[in-house]
Amino acid sequence: MNPYDYADANRETFLAELETLLRIPSVSTLSEHKGDVRRAAEWLQQHLLQIGMTRAELFETPGHPLVYAEWLGAAGAPTVLVYGHYDVQPVDDPEGQWKSSPFEPVIRDGALYARGATDDKGQTLTQVKAVQSLMANGGMPVNIKFLIEGEEESGSVNLYSFIDNHHDLLRCDVAVISDTHILGKDQPSIVTGLRGMTYLEIEVRGPSHDLHSGSYGGVVHNPVQALVEILATMHDAEGHITIPGFYDKVQVLTPEQRADLAKNPMPVERLKSETGINKAWGEPEFDLHERIGIRPTLEINGIIGGWTGEGAKTVLPARAMAKVSCRLVPNQDAVEIEKLITDFVAAHTPPTVTSEVRVLHRGDWGVVDTDSPYFRAAADAYTFGFGKAPVYMREGGSIPVVASLQRAFDIPVILMGFGLPDDNLHGPNEKFDLECFSRGIQTAIKFYETIGTMH
Ligand code: BES
Ligand code: MN
Ligand code: MN
Repeated sequence: MNPYDYADANRETFLAELETLLRIPSVSTLSEHKGDVRRAAEWLQQHLLQIGMTRAELFETPGHPLVYAEWLGAAGAPTVLVYGHYDVQPVDDPEGQWKSSPFEPVIRDGALYARGATDDKGQTLTQVKAVQSLMANGGMPVNIKFLIEGEEESGSVNLYSFIDNHHDLLRCDVAVISDTHILGKDQPSIVTGLRGMTYLEIEVRGPSHDLHSGSYGGVVHNPVQALVEILATMHDAEGHITIPGFYDKVQVLTPEQRADLAKNPMPVERLKSETGINKAWGEPEFDLHERIGIRPTLEINGIIGGWTGEGAKTVLPARAMAKVSCRLVPNQDAVEIEKLITDFVAAHTPPTVTSEVRVLHRGDWGVVDTDSPYFRAAADAYTFGFGKAPVYMREGGSIPVVASLQRAFDIPVILMGFGLPDDNLHGPNEKFDLECFSRGIQTAIKFYETIGTMH
C-alpha cells in the first residue's frame, strides 16, 4: 500500500489512539496532575517505539519529563526534528461551559471534543501518524527525531536548557511544529511569525491582616483598589500601552510589509462570530491582523483579592494580586520589558501600600524564513493536502521554542499547523476537526516525501 491509502485505511485506529491519549489529563501547571503528565509521556514513548522508532526515551527534568525518539536510517537524507507538546491547559470551568467531559473525548459534528484535542495532542499525533504511515509502507524518506514536551503550557521552564545541553542529540536540518491553525479547511495558511511573552504577577499589600471594612474603611487604602488603580493606568482610552519605553523597540513595518499582511485581513465579522463580542477593541491605527500579529499587548489574565465566595462579606483585604502577561513582538526584549513594568508599578504604587512584581516565565517571539526550500515544500504539501495553495499569516500566540531552535541549529522552522480558528484551544469545548486530522496526515506525508529527495 502507499502511505496515503494506509493513513485513510487506518483512520479509525488513529482516532482511537488519539482518544486514548486525550483521556490522560496531563495538565502541566497543576501539581495534582503530575502523575497524569508522566503517564501521557510514557504512553507516547511506548507508542513511538510501536510505530518503529529505534529509540524512544523519557528525559527527566526538575519538572515534567521530555519525550525524545528517533529513527535515523535514511543515510544522506535530511534530518527533521518534530517538536510538539503532550501537556494541556487546565479545564477551569466554573460556569459549566463544557458540553461533555473534557477528558472523555466525544465526536460531534465531525470533530473530536476534548482538552488537548487540537493543542497539542491531536496535532502532535498528526505528525506521528504521518511518520507511521511512511514507516509501514516503504520506509521513512528522511531521518526523524521527535521532541515532545510536557511543560509547554506552563512556560517550558526546563526546555531551553535541555536544548542547550543536547545539541548533538537534537541536531537537525529542519524543524517542524504542528501547533498552530489554518484559516479554514478551504483556505490553508502557514504561520510566518509568532509573538513572544513575559508573564508576571503583581502583588499589592496593605494592612498586616484582613480588616473589618466598617472599622477601617476610609482610613486604610484597600489593596484591591490600589491594585486596580495601578492596572488602570497601564492603557490609555484607545488601548495603547502607557508604560514609558514599551514600544521603543517595536519593529515598524514598511508599507510593503503592511500591504502583505493586509492581503489576509481578519474580518471583524469573523472576530465577532469566533468570540461573541459586539465590537472590536484595540489600537485604532492598526487593523485586526496587525493588532494580533505584529503589535504587542499587556493583558490582565486574572485578578484575585478579598471576598469572592458566595454571598457578602464586609472585608477590607490585606492583599491583592494580578496575573499580567505581555505578548511581545520583534524586536522587543522580554527582560527589558519586565524592567519597564517593574519600574512603572513601583512609580505608581502610592505610599499607602507596598507592591512587588514577580516574573513567572518568558518566551521569545519568532519569525520564520519563507525563502527556504523546506518552506516551499511545506507550501506545496498544503496544496496537495487541502486542494488549495496556503496563504501566510502572523499569529498572536506564542511558541517560544521556534526562536530557540533557530538559535541552536541555524535551521528553518516550519509551522505546519492543522487546527482551525474556532477550535477553542485553552477554552471550553476544545476540538480537533476530523478532516483536519486526516488532511493534516496527508499533508505531512507529502512534505516528508518531497524533502526526502532534497539532499
Ligand atoms: N499552541 C499554542 C500557541 C498558539 C496559540 C498557536 C494560538 C496558535 C494560536 C501554545 O500551546 C500556547 O498556548 N502557547 C502559550 C505559550 C506561553 C505559555 C509561553 C501561549 O501562547 O499562551
Ligand atoms: Mn500548543
Ligand atoms: Mn496552548
